[in-house]
Formats: sequence, C-alpha cells, structure tokens
Amino acid sequence: MNSKVAETFLIRCIEPDCGQTYDLDTPIYTCTICNGLLDITWTEQQNEDPDRLRSLWSNRKTSNDPRDQSGVWRFREILPFEQNSAVVSLKEGNTPLYHGPKSAAYCQLDSLQLKHQGANPTGSFKDTGMTVAVTQACVLGARLVACASTGNTAASLAAYAARADLPCAILVPTGQVSHAKLAQALDYGARVLEIEGNFDSCMRLIRELSEEGSLYLVNSINPFRIEGQKTVAFELAEQLEWDVPDHLVVPGGNLGNSSAFGKGFRELLALGLIKRMPRITVVQAAGASPFAKFFAAHQHSVNLQFVDEPNPRTLASAIKIGAPVSWKKALRAVEETKGTVLTVTEQEIADSKAVIGTEGIGCEPASATTVAGIRRMRNEGFIKTDEKVVAVLTGHVLKDTDYVIDYHNNSLRAGSDELITSKFRNRPIQVAGGREELRAVLASLTKV
Ligand code: F0G
Repeated sequence: MNSKVAETFLIRCIEPDCGQTYDLDTPIYTCTICNGLLDITWTEQQNEDPDRLRSLWSNRKTSNDPRDQSGVWRFREILPFEQNSAVVSLKEGNTPLYHGPKSAAYCQLDSLQLKHQGANPTGSFKDTGMTVAVTQACVLGARLVACASTGNTAASLAAYAARADLPCAILVPTGQVSHAKLAQALDYGARVLEIEGNFDSCMRLIRELSEEGSLYLVNSINPFRIEGQKTVAFELAEQLEWDVPDHLVVPGGNLGNSSAFGKGFRELLALGLIKRMPRITVVQAAGASPFAKFFAAHQHSVNLQFVDEPNPRTLASAIKIGAPVSWKKALRAVEETKGTVLTVTEQEIADSKAVIGTEGIGCEPASATTVAGIRRMRNEGFIKTDEKVVAVLTGHVLKDTDYVIDYHNNSLRAGSDELITSKFRNRPIQVAGGREELRAVLASLTKV
C-alpha cells in the first residue's frame, strides 16, 4: 500500500483486551480475532499546529478544487487517504447551523441550534460517510457495493455508486421504506432488493454475505463510513468558532452517527482544536429503544449483555432498528462525554417535528426525536435553560411526506389503536365560494 497514509493510519479493534491492528487496505468490518468493532486510528499522536489547521480548512472554503468544495474532504488531513487521491464526491457537508427560536421556546431553552444534515446532496447525513466509504471501495477495486437500509443509506449509496460507476445492491425491508427514499435509490440506478422481515434481518443477511468477500459493505459498521461522518464534528466546531456546545443531541438507530460524533470530538480534543467535548446524548423512539434500555440497566450493573429488540416499532421508519451494530462505540461516546440515552413517544416525535417545521426548516420524523428529547431533558433538569444545545437534524422534511400529510390531517396512527393528536395541525382550507369567500379568508390570515 502507498507510503504516507499507511504510516499515519491503521485499522484497530476497539476491544481493549484485543486491539488487533489491520492495514487500511484490508476489506474488513469486524475483528477477525474477537469479532469486535473496528476504528481507524492514528499510528501515533499527531503534533499538528491547531491554528495552522484552522486557517488551512477555513481558506479552502473559497477554493474551486472539488475536494475543497466538499465539507468532508476539506478536512482531509484527518482522513485516511493519500492527500492527492481522487475522491467520489457530490459536494456533501457544509450544512447549515440554524437558530431555532420556536424549537427553543418549545423546549424552554434560551436558544437552540439545529445542525441540518438534511441539506446534504441526497437529503440526509449519510452522504458525509458515503463519500468516504465509496472512495475507499474504489481504492480497494471493489466490484459490487452493498448495504442494508431503512432508506437513507440506500439513497446515499445509490447516488455515490452512480458517481463512481460501481454496481450497487441495496437490501430493504419490503414495504417499510418511505417512497421518497425508494424513489431516490431507483432513480440513481441501484438494484433494490426487497427482503421479507425488518431492517435487522436485512443487516444480518448482508453482513453474512460480506464475509464471503464478493461485495464491499458500506453500512456504518464499515469504519470508513464513520471517518466521513466524524467530519461533521469538525464542521460544527468550526461553525461555533471552535467553542463546542454543552449538549449535542442525535437520534439513535444503528448508532453509527453518535459513534462518529464521539470520534470526531475526541480527535478535535486530541488535536488541541477544542478544549472540551460536548455531552453527547442519543434519543431513540420508545418502540425501538434497545440502546436506551441497555444504557439504563448499565447504570446499575456493568458487564450486562446487550439485548436486541426483536420487534421494533415506530413511525420514524429511519430508526426502526432493534439490533444496532455500533452500540459499543455509541456507549463509549455517551459515557466519555457524560451524556445520556433516552426515549421519546410517537406523540412527542410528531409534535416536535411539527414545531421544527414551523421554523421554515422541517425534518423527517427520526430527526425530530432530538427536539423531543431535549424538551424532556429540559423538564427533567438534565439540560439547563441557558446551556448551549445543538440538535442534529439527520434528514430532510421531504423524505417522508405521507407522515406529514397524515399529521396535518389528524390521521397519523402509531398503531391500529393509537391515534396521534395533531396539536400543531395545519389543515388545507377548502375555499369553495369564489372571490368573496377567498377575500374573507385572506383577510382573516393577514397579520395585524
Ligand atoms: N436519522 C435518519 C434520518 C436516519 O436515516 C438514520 C439511520 C438515523 C437517524 C439513525 O442514525 O443509524 O447512525 O444511529 N438510517 C439508516 C438507514 C439505518 O439505513 O438509512 P444511526
């Protein structure tokens, strides 16, 4: 393998009793010795000048180099690739950090900022990881890339595989993926394989087949995905003038995103770019919350077995996951930053989503777990009124329009017997009576 990058980075098993290392060009997802998860790590402590890095990355924002125009590759000093290597990019990252005054008021906070990952090229945070994973697939000469998905990973992989001209197979649970996400994957030319069962069944199947070596798996168990997603911590820190928030709150599904934020902030700290880490909190939907249950039990006794949720249920289909592969990495991120893990109800998710919508921003249901969780944590005193809080909105509002329409029509059901009460309902108004009636309706809408 090529010189410089191999001297700087390697793949390492995260299990403290193992720590087995592998070269970067080993197509591997878990440790062959102990089956542990894998991290990409520096071979030795880096002695970079933080000010040099800050100005290098900032100056690239005005460059026309395609790598500089990507919010991921702009930070390429911290990525495990040769500095001049070709990349598969759609100019991902560089997503906005918005102030959300209505969401802040809803949570009884002085202020709340929303990092909108839905502004990525395929409408979700997955793109920041996929650009790196598909670039690595090209480095390895992969002939087929694949993933299991609740929809967003599928859309993202489909797009990046198309850019790389790589065949791509996507496993999705039949009938459980939103039309928008499925439409993206089909349009970008992926082969979509519908499987009976749920996301966890798809994940299990594709992991087993990836062991045979005929395909390159790009779910977040692949450490190169996490490398890309960790750059969001760098971008966020930069947007906040290198002063991190007190709390960073993310939704939890397969738990790659929370793991990536943990790794990103850990590296920022090691590089001297920030002085402390934010408390990282993961929010799950109550019906799909194996990590929250584990975390609660783990507070009272260590060495507990992680128990999967055999039948996860939530309308936030992106995070309808019962066997999250990266839970150990996510636990490390939450514990080392003194964050927490909590659950929110379907009603709380729906109302929070509607409030985020009224900001003129919007997001998909899974993303709204963050604001719902922040509201709860504020009520329970875990977050104080004047603390600096960032919620990560992981997906675009148009990712699941059926949910939005059902909410505003007051017909959103979390189960056959559980109707969501649409507290922030905004129904279309039928104007049947012509010009006079329309004039009256418009008058009633005019700001006084
Ligand atoms: N939010 C959205 C919009 C997602 O699509 C996902 C995961 C998550 C949150 C959870 O992130 O898995 O890193 O904890 N979606 C995956 C998919 C599983 O297949 O698109 P996580």
